[in-house]
Amino acid sequence: MDHLATTRDLLAFIGSSPSMFHTAATIRRELDAAGFTYLPEHRPWTMEPGGSYYTVRNGSSVVALKVGSSLDSYHFQMVAAHGDSPSFKVKAAPELSGPEGYLRLNVEPYGGMIDYTWLDRPLSVAGRVMVEQDGHVESRLLYPNRDVALIPSVAIHMNRAVNDGFAFNHQVDLCPLFSAGELGKGAFVAMLADELGVSPDQVLSWDLFLVNRQAPSVWGVAQEFVSAPHLDDLQCAFAGLRAFLASQNDHDVSVFVCFDNEEVGSGTKQGAKSTLLHDTLVRANAALGRGEADYLQAIAMSFLVSADNAHAVHPNHPEHADERNRPRLNGGVVIKEHAMQRYTTDAFSRAAFAAICREAGVPVQAFANRSDKEGGSTLGNLSNLQVSVHGVDIGLPQLAMHSSYETAGVRDTMWGIEALSAFYRSNLLIEGADRLTIA
Ligand code: CO
Repeated sequence: MDHLATTRDLLAFIGSSPSMFHTAATIRRELDAAGFTYLPEHRPWTMEPGGSYYTVRNGSSVVALKVGSSLDSYHFQMVAAHGDSPSFKVKAAPELSGPEGYLRLNVEPYGGMIDYTWLDRPLSVAGRVMVEQDGHVESRLLYPNRDVALIPSVAIHMNRAVNDGFAFNHQVDLCPLFSAGELGKGAFVAMLADELGVSPDQVLSWDLFLVNRQAPSVWGVAQEFVSAPHLDDLQCAFAGLRAFLASQNDHDVSVFVCFDNEEVGSGTKQGAKSTLLHDTLVRANAALGRGEADYLQAIAMSFLVSADNAHAVHPNHPEHADERNRPRLNGGVVIKEHAMQRYTTDAFSRAAFAAICREAGVPVQAFANRSDKEGGSTLGNLSNLQVSVHGVDIGLPQLAMHSSYETAGVRDTMWGIEALSAFYRSNLLIEGADRLTIA
C-alpha cells in the first residue's frame, strides 16, 4: 500500500466530511457504491447470508454490516470510530450585532476545543438544515464551499498581555465576524436559503457548525506529516471504513460503525451510549432467522475494536506523556490501556489484537496516561454498556488533538487500514476469556 496515496484518499474523505452529517453521508456514498442495501430503522428488515447492509440514525451515525456467506462461527467482529469533532455550533438566533455596523455569528462550543486555534482562520459552516418543502419538512446537507466568517485576534497593541496566556470567554472572544456593514440581520438565513435554492421563510432550523477552511497539507522536507481539520477521528473512521470494504470474511458478521456525539459524551440517541448498535445487531440477528439465545451466544464470541486517535509524544513537551507508554508519529497503530477502564483493553483483547497486527506485519505501540493525569475517554467502554463484548481501544498517533488543525504521520493511516483489514479477515474463535484461536 502506498502511504502517500492513502494519505491523499484520507484528505479527500476529510474534505467531504466537514460535519458529522457530512461524515455519515460520505460513508453512505461509499457503502452505496459498494452495493450495500440501506435498511431504514423505521422499516422491516430482511437479510441473507452473504449480503451487505447499513442503517443510519439521525443522519449522523451509521452502522454497516457484511454478513458472511457460511456463518459457520456466527458472531460479530466490529470496528467503531466517531464522525464528529469539536467545533462551535450556530445558535437558533444566529446573529449578533456589533459596534459600527459589524454583524457577528452567535455560536457556542461543541466539545472541548483548543480555543486559540480557531482565530484568524477562514471559516465556513457545515451541517444540516431543515427546510419546509411542499408541505413536508426535509433535511438538507449544507456546506457553503467558500470562506464566510473569521474570528479576528485582538491586536497585540491593544492586549499586550496576550502572550502571557489568555483565557478566551466563549460568549465574548470567539464570535465569528460575518459582515463589516454590507449585511444586516437575516443575512445568515438568507445565505442558507441561497445555498439551498429555497426562500428564507422555508428555512426552519439547523444544526450547523463552524469549519476551519485552511487546506490540508502533507508537509516536511521528507514528507512525514499530514495536517488537516478533524483527524480525530476521521483518520480512524476512514481507516476502519476502507478496511471494512476491502475485507472478506465468510464465517462471521463484519460490522463497521461510525458514531456521532463522541465529543460531547456520547449520551444521545445516536451516540455510543445509545441503543443504536444494540438495536442494529438484535435486528440483524432476527432478520437472519436466529433467536435470542443465538444472539447472546454470538455476543459472547464477539469483539469490538474501538478506534479513536491517540496522543503522540509532543516534541516540545514530552513530560506530558508516560515515560514508556508513549507513541511516536509514523510508528504504527496504538493500543491504549487504562487501569480505571476508560479504555476497554485488557490482557485478553490486547493479546488478540497484537497477534493480528504481528501476523499482518503492522507495528504496534502502547499508550497509557501519565499516572498523575486523567486523560480522555472514548467509545469502547460506553458502547459496552449496551453491547458487552471483548474490546480493545486503539488509535493512530497524532499531535494537537482538538486543535482546529491537527497533525499526524503520513504512514499511520496505512498501518491502520492494514491492521483493521487483518482484523476483519481473521476469524476470531473466542471461548470466554480463557482461550482464543485466530483462524
Ligand atoms: Co476522538
